[in-house]
Amino acid sequence: MPVMALDEKQATWGGRFSMQPDALMQVFGESVSFDKRLAPYDLKGSLGHASMLAHVGLISEDEFIEIKNGIDELIEEIKSPQFTWKLELEDVHMNLEQALREKTKAADKLHTGRSRNDQVATDMRLFFKDACFQLKISLEGAMSSILNLAKKYSDLPIPGYTHLQRAQPVTVGHHLLAHLEALGRDHERFSRVIEHANVCPLGSGAIAGSTLPLDREFVAKELGFVNEDGKPLITPNGMDAVADRDLFLEFSMACVTTSLHLSRMSEDIILWNSSEFGFINLPDSFTTGSSLMPQKKNPDSYELIRGKTGRIIGNLQNLCVAIKGLPLTYNRDLQEDKPPVFDSLDQLSICLAVVTESLKASSFNEKNCRKAASDPLLLATDLADYLVERGVPFRTAHHFIGELVSLSEKKKVLLPNLDQEEALKICPHLGDDWREVFDLSRAFKKREKPGMPGPNEINTRLNHWTSILTS
Ligand code: ARG
Repeated sequence: MPVMALDEKQATWGGRFSMQPDALMQVFGESVSFDKRLAPYDLKGSLGHASMLAHVGLISEDEFIEIKNGIDELIEEIKSPQFTWKLELEDVHMNLEQALREKTKAADKLHTGRSRNDQVATDMRLFFKDACFQLKISLEGAMSSILNLAKKYSDLPIPGYTHLQRAQPVTVGHHLLAHLEALGRDHERFSRVIEHANVCPLGSGAIAGSTLPLDREFVAKELGFVNEDGKPLITPNGMDAVADRDLFLEFSMACVTTSLHLSRMSEDIILWNSSEFGFINLPDSFTTGSSLMPQKKNPDSYELIRGKTGRIIGNLQNLCVAIKGLPLTYNRDLQEDKPPVFDSLDQLSICLAVVTESLKASSFNEKNCRKAASDPLLLATDLADYLVERGVPFRTAHHFIGELVSLSEKKKVLLPNLDQEEALKICPHLGDDWREVFDLSRAFKKREKPGMPGPNEINTRLNHWTSILTS
């Protein structure tokens, strides 16, 4: 069997091989088509690693300068579409190492004390920090749009629903704030993912570190893996560091939770936009027409958010299944871990942008909202509370009001229009003033405790979010 010359062999690991990988295997095994997205993080990680190698004397100061200059050039070159990514070099890591090699022989020392396993883990931790940071900014955009609408219509009454049945009156402010609170939790959740990502795996090598005198704390500091006091944070076990995909799961789950929130909000908006509800007017710019029915204006933007939520959930599922049967440590299956997280980031980012822009141009139809909220049955519970305040046990009060509602249905009159005598026959505890309960502003004013839709309480939450989102 002919022995290949060194430069015909697979550039990084070809030493023990006598044949090039089959063309089919190259296409099957490559990841550069998607992991080239990690190039800025890979270069950053390489620079930190090279700086550490110089610090401990494993490369000379001159070699470090050459590597640094090469990396600085590459940081610019990879921004251009002219930069050629080579499939036969498998992945972003080997492509960049070879590109650096074309600039300086010192590049041959860059991989000292490092494996692609701890390199991938490091790149991804840098990626997750950035991705969460970007998503937090996108979330702030969506939250601001919701907040502005909530402020504009803070006291506009609408029915609140349970089981999609009219339940109790709320205001648009209260309802939109509910969605805002959920996105606020998402914002915090991404901050926690950033904290968890903030630990440096470099120095783990393939699984068992290195015999070389690496300085793990130094490189962790170089790459910004530090706590508030500037103390370096490093992973405590090399096998865990390269096998661990917790962050992938955590990030994907955080994306799932946010997209579920957006999906549920979308469902509210889709319902509100229907002719049956008619509560909200969506802008032409974020709706689409029907190719057949000229009258249609469809809420496709929100339907797509619901749809993309399925895809984002699928990405999490995809990761769980890929990981579940893997023995420690690295197995090539793990190469499949990146497309789902990239996709979740991309899809969630665009969903948040669509919510931000479409809500900016949306308005509520005040007449329809008020009309729906004027349904007196929404205040049946308030009438039970009225009886409680007159000393009737709640269970008994609930029963009385149920009978009054049934009578009003039988008589085909609204609950407050029931004949006084007939009403008293069912419930002798009613005073002369029981119809005053059917006044929405009374209903809201009586709900001023935290979490309720009273006007002052709503303003407190609106101010809370305004100060957070404008600081
Ligand atoms: N492209 C590979 C990945 O993303 C790089 C890691 C390769 N490591 C290895 N031991 N073959 O997973």
